[in-house]
Amino acid sequence: MLPDDLAAALRALRDRRPGLFLDVRWHAAVPSTMDVAAGLVAAGAQHGVVVGAEVQTAGRGRRGRVWESPPAAGLYFSFIARPPLPANASLPLVTLAAGVAVREGIHAALGWTPELKWPNDVMVGRRKLAGILAEGLAVGTPAQAVVIGVGMNLLPSAYPAEVAARATSLEAELGRAVDRGQVLAEVLAALADRLATLARSPGDILQAWRAASPSATGTRVEWDGRVGTTAGIDDSGALLIRTPSGVERLIAGEVHWSL
Ligand code: BTN
Repeated sequence: MLPDDLAAALRALRDRRPGLFLDVRWHAAVPSTMDVAAGLVAAGAQHGVVVGAEVQTAGRGRRGRVWESPPAAGLYFSFIARPPLPANASLPLVTLAAGVAVREGIHAALGWTPELKWPNDVMVGRRKLAGILAEGLAVGTPAQAVVIGVGMNLLPSAYPAEVAARATSLEAELGRAVDRGQVLAEVLAALADRLATLARSPGDILQAWRAASPSATGTRVEWDGRVGTTAGIDDSGALLIRTPSGVERLIAGEVHWSL
């Protein structure tokens, strides 16, 4: 059942964008919205179905990490994307499109814009504001879908110390209360719009992502025990890193900024 603040914001969005299909299913608590969404995909849920929760008891991050999902501190949801939208696009490009959309949705809701860090972290300086997890299901079959999970910090919270040191939240950055319903509605609208852009014109997503990620160029990074300087992303969404032995192409994984 949708809480009142979310229902009001989604109603306002529907009035403004009657042609936009979104079916938001909200839970008090689930282990992970990714798993609930995967179950709905298996049952045939269509593009634009969204699973959200007030609390996740087993929230997942990238690379097998835990995504801390305490009550009343963040937005936790998964968007089901179906072909034809992502069918012609690789998972890395869907991931980039999602990053662009989350950033734009935050801007539309709050008039303030964070940056992106490859592949899909939403950042304020060196602190992470939101993370995105894109999982392909039944890839290569007619039932193919991508579940795009978004976890966004709304309030400073009692995170474990190692998370708190690297995290920030919308309210901490803006110094004021934030209407989470408005943020959710704008991010969902932007996700639907940017997935449509991806199907039509992947070049526009690459261009928007590049403009949103200053750290993707000219930043010293470390990865897998190696060091180099970022040199942009290529048209498949891979990060290019200049090293003494040549330019490396990172398709997946994670880089750390060198101090
Ligand atoms: C990352 O590691 O940066 C990705 C974090 C993704 C977290 C979100 S919260 C909603 C959805 N459900 C999950 O279990 N994970 C994603």
